[in-house]
Amino acid sequence: MQVHRSIQSLRAALKNARRIAFAPTMGNLHAGHVSLMEQARHHSETVVSSIFVNRLQFGPNEDFDKYPRTFEADCAQLDAAGVAHLFAPDEAELYPAPQQYFISPAQAQDSILEGACRPGHFRGVATVVAKLFNIVQPHVALFGKKDYQQLMVIRNMVRELAMPIEIIGCETIRASDGLALSSRNGYLSPDERAEAPRLHRQLAAIAEAVRAGRQDFSALEVAAVSHLREAGWAPDYVAIRRQQDLQAADARSPLVVLAAARLGTTRLIDNLEI
Ligand code: PAF
Repeated sequence: MQVHRSIQSLRAALKNARRIAFAPTMGNLHAGHVSLMEQARHHSETVVSSIFVNRLQFGPNEDFDKYPRTFEADCAQLDAAGVAHLFAPDEAELYPAPQQYFISPAQAQDSILEGACRPGHFRGVATVVAKLFNIVQPHVALFGKKDYQQLMVIRNMVRELAMPIEIIGCETIRASDGLALSSRNGYLSPDERAEAPRLHRQLAAIAEAVRAGRQDFSALEVAAVSHLREAGWAPDYVAIRRQQDLQAADARSPLVVLAAARLGTTRLIDNLEI
C-alpha cells in the first residue's frame, strides 16, 4: 500500500486508475472499516482509503483532541484488506487556509436527530467528503450504515450536486453481544462496555414490536428513552423514522429506528432498519 501525504502525490498515483472505490475514514480502524475495504475491492480495480480526523465536523466541546489516533495499526489493517493507496494528509495539506466555502446540507436533514444534537456536524462532514471526492475522483464510495444520517446526507449531496459517484451503504458490523463497532467504544470503561449492548437491545425490541404490527411509534420511543434513563444512560433521542428521508414514520414506508445516548462521557449512536 502506498501512503500519500499530499494531494499532488495521490493525484499522480491515481492518474491512470480505471475504476476507483473510495472509503474515507478518521482512522482508529476496526472490523467495520475492514469490511468497507473488502466490499470496495468487489466494486473496483483500485481501492483508495483516507485517514483524516476532520476538525470541521467536531463541535467545540466534542472529542476532536482525544479522538484516538492509531496510524501504524491502521496502515497494517488497510494494507491487509487490499487498499492500494492511503491518503493521509495533515491539516495544513487539507486546510492550508481556514476553509471558507462549505457544503450545507438541506435544513430538513441538518436540523433533525444528529444534526440537532451536533450543530454544524453535517456541514463539516459534507464539506470534507466533497473535498476528498474532488481529490480522489472515485467512481464508487462506501460508507457504513451505522452513521445512517451521514450516509443520507452524502447520498443527497451527490445527487443534488450531480457528482458522478455511486454511493454504497454497508451494513453495520457488531460485536457478538450486539454492540455496533465504533472507534468511540474504546472510551468505555469495562463496566460501561458490559452495559453498552443495551442500546442495540432496545432498538431490536422496537424493531420487533413494529414488525409485529405496533404503530404507536411515540409510545415505543418514550418507553425506550425511559428504560435507558433507568439504566443510567443519558439518551439524546430514540426515533422511529422513514428510511428514505428520516422524516416522521408512517405505516406504509420502510422504517428505521435510530438512537443516540451517552453512557458516562461516551456518546454512542446506533440504528436498525425495520
Ligand atoms: O464517518 C467518518 O469516519 C467521517 O465522518 C468521514 C466520512 C470520514 C468524514 O470525515
